[in-house]
Amino acid sequence: MKVFITGGAGFIGSHIAEEYLLKDHNVTVYDNFSTGKMDNLQFATTNDRLKITEGDIRDYPLLEQAIAGHDLIFHQAAIASVQQSIDNPRATFEVNAGGTLNVLESARKHKAKKVIFACSAAIFGDHPELPKSEVSPVKPISPYGADKYISETYLRLYSELYGIPTVALRYFNVFGPRQDPSSPYSGVISIFTTRIKANQPVTVFGDGDQYRDFIFVKDVVQANMLAAEKNSTGFENYNVGYGKATSLNDLLEMLKQIYDKEISVKYDKPRQGDIRESVSNNRKLSDELGFLPRFTVKEGLEELTRSL
Ligand SMILES: NC(=O)c1ccc[n+]([C@@H]2O[C@H](COP(=O)([O-])OP(=O)(O)OC[C@H]3O[C@@H](n4cnc5c(N)ncnc54)[C@H](O)[C@@H]3O)[C@@H](O)[C@H]2O)c1
Repeated sequence: MKVFITGGAGFIGSHIAEEYLLKDHNVTVYDNFSTGKMDNLQFATTNDRLKITEGDIRDYPLLEQAIAGHDLIFHQAAIASVQQSIDNPRATFEVNAGGTLNVLESARKHKAKKVIFACSAAIFGDHPELPKSEVSPVKPISPYGADKYISETYLRLYSELYGIPTVALRYFNVFGPRQDPSSPYSGVISIFTTRIKANQPVTVFGDGDQYRDFIFVKDVVQANMLAAEKNSTGFENYNVGYGKATSLNDLLEMLKQIYDKEISVKYDKPRQGDIRESVSNNRKLSDELGFLPRFTVKEGLEELTRSL
Protein backbone atom coordinates (compact mmCIF):
# COMPACT_ATOMS: atom_id res chain seq x y z
CA MET A 1 0.00 0.00 0.00
CA LYS A 2 1.27 3.48 -0.85
CA VAL A 3 0.10 5.91 1.78
CA PHE A 4 0.15 9.70 1.39
CA ILE A 5 -0.23 11.88 4.48
CA THR A 6 -0.68 15.64 4.22
CA GLY A 7 0.39 17.22 7.50
CA GLY A 8 2.33 14.04 8.25
CA ALA A 9 4.98 15.93 10.22
CA GLY A 10 2.34 17.19 12.64
CA PHE A 11 1.02 15.70 15.85
CA ILE A 12 -1.68 13.32 14.52
CA GLY A 13 -0.23 12.82 11.03
CA SER A 14 3.10 11.59 12.40
CA HIS A 15 1.30 8.91 14.44
CA ILE A 16 -0.57 7.74 11.33
CA ALA A 17 2.77 7.59 9.49
CA GLU A 18 4.33 5.60 12.33
CA GLU A 19 1.59 2.93 12.34
CA TYR A 20 1.68 2.41 8.56
CA LEU A 21 5.47 2.16 8.59
CA LEU A 22 5.25 -0.41 11.39
CA LYS A 23 2.96 -2.41 9.11
CA ASP A 24 5.56 -2.23 6.32
CA HIS A 25 3.71 0.11 3.99
CA ASN A 26 5.35 2.91 1.99
CA VAL A 27 4.54 6.31 3.39
CA THR A 28 4.90 9.77 1.87
CA VAL A 29 4.64 12.71 4.24
CA TYR A 30 3.73 15.99 2.54
CA ASP A 31 4.09 18.97 4.86
CA ASN A 32 5.08 22.63 4.76
CA PHE A 33 6.51 22.39 8.30
CA SER A 34 4.55 25.43 9.49
CA THR A 35 3.65 23.69 12.77
CA GLY A 36 4.98 20.23 11.89
CA LYS A 37 8.53 19.23 12.79
CA MET A 38 11.14 16.86 11.45
CA ASP A 39 11.57 15.75 15.08
CA ASN A 40 8.07 14.26 14.99
CA LEU A 41 9.35 11.80 12.36
CA GLN A 42 12.57 11.01 14.19
CA PHE A 43 11.44 7.40 14.70
CA ALA A 44 11.77 6.77 10.95
CA THR A 45 14.26 9.14 9.38
CA THR A 46 16.50 6.20 8.41
CA ASN A 47 13.57 4.09 7.17
CA ASP A 48 13.71 4.03 3.38
CA ARG A 49 9.98 3.34 3.15
CA LEU A 50 9.39 6.89 4.42
CA LYS A 51 9.56 9.71 1.90
CA ILE A 52 9.29 13.30 3.10
CA THR A 53 8.23 15.99 0.66
CA GLU A 54 8.32 19.57 1.81
CA GLY A 55 5.37 21.23 0.13
CA ASP A 56 2.25 23.25 0.64
CA ILE A 57 -1.29 21.99 0.00
CA ARG A 58 -2.02 25.39 -1.58
CA ASP A 59 0.59 24.58 -4.25
CA TYR A 60 -1.65 22.49 -6.52
CA PRO A 61 0.94 21.55 -9.20
CA LEU A 62 3.41 20.30 -6.58
CA LEU A 63 0.75 18.50 -4.55
CA GLU A 64 -0.78 16.86 -7.60
CA GLN A 65 2.62 15.59 -8.74
CA ALA A 66 3.43 14.30 -5.26
CA ILE A 67 0.12 12.41 -4.90
CA ALA A 68 0.58 10.48 -8.18
CA GLY A 69 0.94 6.75 -7.56
CA HIS A 70 -0.50 6.68 -4.03
CA ASP A 71 -3.48 4.52 -3.03
CA LEU A 72 -4.58 5.93 0.29
CA ILE A 73 -4.62 9.62 1.16
CA PHE A 74 -4.89 10.84 4.73
CA HIS A 75 -5.50 14.57 4.67
CA GLN A 76 -4.39 15.99 8.03
CA ALA A 77 -2.78 19.28 6.98
CA ALA A 78 -4.56 22.36 8.28
CA ILE A 79 -4.12 25.49 10.31
CA ALA A 80 -5.55 23.78 13.37
CA SER A 81 -6.33 26.90 15.32
CA VAL A 82 -9.78 28.34 15.89
CA GLN A 83 -8.28 31.65 17.04
CA GLN A 84 -6.10 32.03 13.95
CA SER A 85 -9.15 31.39 11.78
CA ILE A 86 -11.02 34.17 13.60
CA ASP A 87 -8.07 36.56 13.27
CA ASN A 88 -7.36 35.77 9.64
CA PRO A 89 -10.26 33.91 8.00
CA ARG A 90 -9.07 34.36 4.42
CA ALA A 91 -5.66 32.84 5.06
CA THR A 92 -7.07 29.86 6.95
CA PHE A 93 -9.76 29.35 4.30
CA GLU A 94 -7.07 29.01 1.64
CA VAL A 95 -5.36 26.24 3.59
CA ASN A 96 -8.27 24.54 5.33
CA ALA A 97 -10.90 24.64 2.58
CA GLY A 98 -8.86 25.42 -0.58
CA GLY A 99 -6.18 22.91 0.43
CA THR A 100 -8.80 20.17 0.82
CA LEU A 101 -10.12 20.88 -2.66
CA ASN A 102 -6.56 20.59 -4.02
CA VAL A 103 -6.15 17.23 -2.26
CA LEU A 104 -9.45 15.94 -3.66
CA GLU A 105 -8.70 17.15 -7.16
CA SER A 106 -5.26 15.51 -7.07
CA ALA A 107 -6.89 12.28 -5.84
CA ARG A 108 -9.38 12.45 -8.71
CA LYS A 109 -6.69 13.04 -11.29
CA HIS A 110 -4.61 10.10 -10.06
CA LYS A 111 -7.51 7.76 -9.25
CA ALA A 112 -6.64 7.32 -5.58
CA LYS A 113 -8.48 4.48 -3.84
CA LYS A 114 -9.67 6.53 -0.88
CA VAL A 115 -9.36 9.95 0.79
CA ILE A 116 -9.69 10.12 4.58
CA PHE A 117 -10.04 13.58 6.03
CA ALA A 118 -9.35 15.04 9.49
CA CYS A 119 -12.63 16.84 10.12
CA SER A 120 -13.49 18.27 13.52
CA ALA A 121 -16.19 18.39 16.18
CA ALA A 122 -15.88 22.17 15.70
CA ILE A 123 -18.47 21.81 12.92
CA PHE A 124 -21.13 21.37 15.63
CA GLY A 125 -20.44 24.75 17.22
CA ASP A 126 -22.38 25.42 20.40
CA HIS A 127 -25.62 23.67 19.47
CA PRO A 128 -26.80 22.16 22.75
CA GLU A 129 -27.65 18.63 21.58
CA LEU A 130 -25.47 16.07 23.40
CA PRO A 131 -23.91 13.64 22.82
CA LYS A 132 -23.13 14.51 19.21
CA SER A 133 -24.06 11.92 16.64
CA GLU A 134 -23.52 12.07 12.89
CA VAL A 135 -27.03 13.48 12.47
CA SER A 136 -26.68 16.18 15.13
CA PRO A 137 -27.20 19.69 13.78
CA VAL A 138 -24.10 21.28 12.26
CA LYS A 139 -23.64 24.94 13.16
CA PRO A 140 -20.01 26.09 13.15
CA ILE A 141 -19.23 29.21 15.19
CA SER A 142 -15.74 29.84 13.78
CA PRO A 143 -14.20 30.07 10.30
CA TYR A 144 -12.18 26.98 11.27
CA GLY A 145 -15.40 25.00 11.88
CA ALA A 146 -16.93 26.35 8.67
CA ASP A 147 -13.82 25.37 6.64
CA LYS A 148 -13.98 21.85 8.06
CA TYR A 149 -17.65 21.54 7.13
CA ILE A 150 -17.05 22.92 3.63
CA SER A 151 -14.27 20.37 3.26
CA GLU A 152 -16.54 17.55 4.41
CA THR A 153 -19.16 18.70 1.89
CA TYR A 154 -16.56 18.55 -0.89
CA LEU A 155 -15.63 15.03 0.19
CA ARG A 156 -19.25 13.99 -0.26
CA LEU A 157 -19.42 15.74 -3.64
CA TYR A 158 -16.22 14.14 -4.93
CA SER A 159 -17.61 10.77 -4.04
CA GLU A 160 -21.02 11.45 -5.64
CA LEU A 161 -19.73 13.23 -8.75
CA TYR A 162 -16.49 11.38 -9.46
CA GLY A 163 -16.86 8.09 -7.60
CA ILE A 164 -13.92 8.53 -5.20
CA PRO A 165 -14.50 6.80 -1.85
CA THR A 166 -14.13 9.46 0.86
CA VAL A 167 -14.40 9.46 4.66
CA ALA A 168 -14.62 12.44 7.04
CA LEU A 169 -13.54 11.66 10.60
CA ARG A 170 -14.78 14.34 12.97
CA TYR A 171 -12.15 14.28 15.70
CA PHE A 172 -13.07 15.47 19.17
CA ASN A 173 -10.23 16.54 21.55
CA VAL A 174 -7.16 14.56 20.61
CA PHE A 175 -4.19 14.30 22.97
CA GLY A 176 -0.91 12.41 23.18
CA PRO A 177 2.82 12.56 22.60
CA ARG A 178 4.14 15.13 20.05
CA GLN A 179 1.29 17.59 20.60
CA ASP A 180 2.97 20.96 20.68
CA PRO A 181 2.56 22.62 24.12
CA SER A 182 4.28 25.83 23.03
CA SER A 183 1.34 26.90 20.89
CA PRO A 184 -1.21 28.99 22.81
CA TYR A 185 -3.91 27.17 20.83
CA SER A 186 -2.68 23.72 21.66
CA GLY A 187 -4.79 21.16 23.45
CA VAL A 188 -5.31 21.80 27.14
CA ILE A 189 -3.70 18.47 28.07
CA SER A 190 -0.35 19.25 26.48
CA ILE A 191 -0.34 22.64 28.23
CA PHE A 192 -1.32 21.14 31.62
CA THR A 193 1.25 18.33 31.49
CA THR A 194 4.11 20.60 30.46
CA ARG A 195 3.36 23.10 33.21
CA ILE A 196 2.82 20.48 35.92
CA LYS A 197 6.07 18.76 35.00
CA ALA A 198 7.87 22.11 35.37
CA ASN A 199 6.13 22.71 38.73
CA GLN A 200 4.28 25.72 37.30
CA PRO A 201 0.67 26.60 38.18
CA VAL A 202 -2.04 25.81 35.63
CA THR A 203 -4.87 28.13 34.66
CA VAL A 204 -8.40 26.90 34.18
CA PHE A 205 -10.77 29.24 32.38
CA GLY A 206 -14.13 28.85 34.13
CA ASP A 207 -14.98 26.55 37.05
CA GLY A 208 -13.29 23.46 35.56
CA ASP A 209 -16.53 21.49 35.42
CA GLN A 210 -16.84 22.10 31.69
CA TYR A 211 -16.28 18.82 29.91
CA ARG A 212 -14.89 17.53 26.66
CA ASP A 213 -14.38 14.24 24.93
CA PHE A 214 -10.64 13.57 25.14
CA ILE A 215 -9.38 10.80 22.89
CA PHE A 216 -5.85 9.39 22.86
CA VAL A 217 -4.01 9.87 19.56
CA LYS A 218 -3.42 6.13 19.03
CA ASP A 219 -7.18 5.58 19.04
CA VAL A 220 -7.53 8.30 16.40
CA VAL A 221 -4.97 6.38 14.33
CA GLN A 222 -7.03 3.24 14.88
CA ALA A 223 -10.15 5.04 13.53
CA ASN A 224 -8.19 6.18 10.46
CA MET A 225 -6.93 2.68 9.74
CA LEU A 226 -10.38 1.12 10.19
CA ALA A 227 -11.84 3.72 7.83
CA ALA A 228 -9.13 2.89 5.29
CA GLU A 229 -9.70 -0.86 5.54
CA LYS A 230 -13.49 -0.74 5.18
CA ASN A 231 -14.61 -1.74 1.75
CA SER A 232 -16.64 1.40 1.07
CA THR A 233 -17.44 3.00 -2.25
CA GLY A 234 -19.23 6.24 -1.38
CA PHE A 235 -18.91 8.97 1.26
CA GLU A 236 -19.10 8.37 5.00
CA ASN A 237 -18.64 10.52 8.07
CA TYR A 238 -17.94 9.41 11.63
CA ASN A 239 -17.63 11.14 14.96
CA VAL A 240 -14.36 10.11 16.57
CA GLY A 241 -14.15 10.54 20.32
CA TYR A 242 -13.54 8.36 23.33
CA GLY A 243 -17.31 8.49 23.83
CA LYS A 244 -17.28 9.73 27.42
CA ALA A 245 -17.12 13.14 29.04
CA THR A 246 -14.07 14.24 31.04
CA SER A 247 -14.13 17.57 32.86
CA LEU A 248 -11.03 19.70 33.30
CA ASN A 249 -11.24 19.05 37.04
CA ASP A 250 -11.32 15.26 36.31
CA LEU A 251 -8.20 15.70 34.19
CA LEU A 252 -6.41 17.58 36.94
CA GLU A 253 -7.31 14.86 39.44
CA MET A 254 -5.90 12.16 37.14
CA LEU A 255 -2.73 14.18 36.56
CA LYS A 256 -2.35 14.70 40.31
CA GLN A 257 -2.44 10.91 40.76
CA ILE A 258 -0.05 10.24 37.87
CA TYR A 259 2.51 12.83 38.95
CA ASP A 260 1.85 12.06 42.59
CA LYS A 261 2.03 15.71 43.59
CA GLU A 262 -0.20 18.65 44.42
CA ILE A 263 -1.02 20.88 41.46
CA SER A 264 -1.42 24.61 41.84
CA VAL A 265 -4.56 25.60 39.92
CA LYS A 266 -5.71 29.15 39.18
CA TYR A 267 -9.33 29.56 38.11
CA ASP A 268 -9.90 32.50 35.75
CA LYS A 269 -13.00 33.83 34.03
CA PRO A 270 -14.30 31.70 31.12
CA ARG A 271 -12.84 32.46 27.70
CA GLN A 272 -15.15 33.98 25.14
CA GLY A 273 -16.19 31.51 22.47
CA ASP A 274 -15.19 28.39 24.43
CA ILE A 275 -17.68 25.58 24.01
CA ARG A 276 -18.68 24.42 27.47
CA GLU A 277 -19.63 20.84 26.78
CA SER A 278 -18.85 18.41 24.02
CA VAL A 279 -19.01 14.63 23.83
CA SER A 280 -19.21 12.16 20.98
CA ASN A 281 -21.70 9.39 20.41
CA ASN A 282 -19.42 6.74 18.90
CA ARG A 283 -22.14 4.27 17.95
CA LYS A 284 -21.77 4.60 14.17
CA LEU A 285 -17.99 4.34 14.46
CA SER A 286 -18.18 1.17 16.54
CA ASP A 287 -21.11 -0.44 14.65
CA GLU A 288 -19.81 0.18 11.14
CA LEU A 289 -16.04 0.17 11.61
CA GLY A 290 -15.68 -2.01 14.72
CA PHE A 291 -13.95 0.79 16.65
CA LEU A 292 -13.36 0.30 20.36
CA PRO A 293 -11.05 2.71 22.18
CA ARG A 294 -7.96 0.88 23.43
CA PHE A 295 -6.93 3.62 25.86
CA THR A 296 -8.91 5.16 28.69
CA VAL A 297 -8.18 8.84 29.22
CA LYS A 298 -6.05 7.91 32.25
CA GLU A 299 -4.06 5.31 30.28
CA GLY A 300 -3.50 7.85 27.52
CA LEU A 301 -2.31 10.40 30.08
CA GLU A 302 0.08 7.82 31.55
CA GLU A 303 1.56 7.09 28.12
CA LEU A 304 1.83 10.82 27.38
CA THR A 305 3.56 11.66 30.65
CA ARG A 306 6.03 8.78 30.14
CA SER A 307 7.00 10.34 26.80
CA LEU A 308 7.72 13.79 28.22
N1 LIG B 1 -5.64 17.94 17.67
C1 LIG B 1 -6.95 17.91 17.78
O1 LIG B 1 -7.50 17.81 18.88
C2 LIG B 1 -7.82 18.00 16.54
C3 LIG B 1 -9.22 17.98 16.70
C4 LIG B 1 -10.01 18.05 15.56
C5 LIG B 1 -9.45 18.08 14.30
N2 LIG B 1 -8.08 18.13 14.17
C6 LIG B 1 -7.51 18.17 12.82
O2 LIG B 1 -6.55 17.14 12.69
C7 LIG B 1 -5.52 17.54 11.79
C8 LIG B 1 -4.16 17.39 12.42
O3 LIG B 1 -4.10 18.24 13.57
P1 LIG B 1 -2.87 18.24 14.59
O4 LIG B 1 -3.43 18.42 15.94
O5 LIG B 1 -1.99 17.08 14.30
O6 LIG B 1 -2.17 19.62 14.19
P2 LIG B 1 -0.67 19.93 13.74
O7 LIG B 1 -0.58 21.41 13.62
O8 LIG B 1 0.30 19.22 14.62
O9 LIG B 1 -0.60 19.26 12.30
C9 LIG B 1 -0.97 19.93 11.12
C10 LIG B 1 0.14 19.69 10.11
O10 LIG B 1 -0.23 20.31 8.87
C11 LIG B 1 0.90 21.00 8.36
N3 LIG B 1 0.40 22.08 7.52
C12 LIG B 1 -0.28 23.20 7.90
N4 LIG B 1 -0.56 23.97 6.83
C13 LIG B 1 -0.06 23.32 5.75
C14 LIG B 1 -0.03 23.64 4.37
N5 LIG B 1 -0.55 24.77 3.89
N6 LIG B 1 0.56 22.75 3.54
C15 LIG B 1 1.14 21.60 4.00
N7 LIG B 1 1.14 21.27 5.31
C16 LIG B 1 0.55 22.13 6.18
C17 LIG B 1 1.65 21.50 9.59
O11 LIG B 1 3.01 21.82 9.33
C18 LIG B 1 1.48 20.31 10.52
O12 LIG B 1 2.53 19.36 10.33
C19 LIG B 1 -5.86 18.98 11.39
O13 LIG B 1 -6.55 18.95 10.16
C20 LIG B 1 -6.77 19.45 12.51
O14 LIG B 1 -7.63 20.48 12.07
C21 LIG B 1 -7.25 18.08 15.26
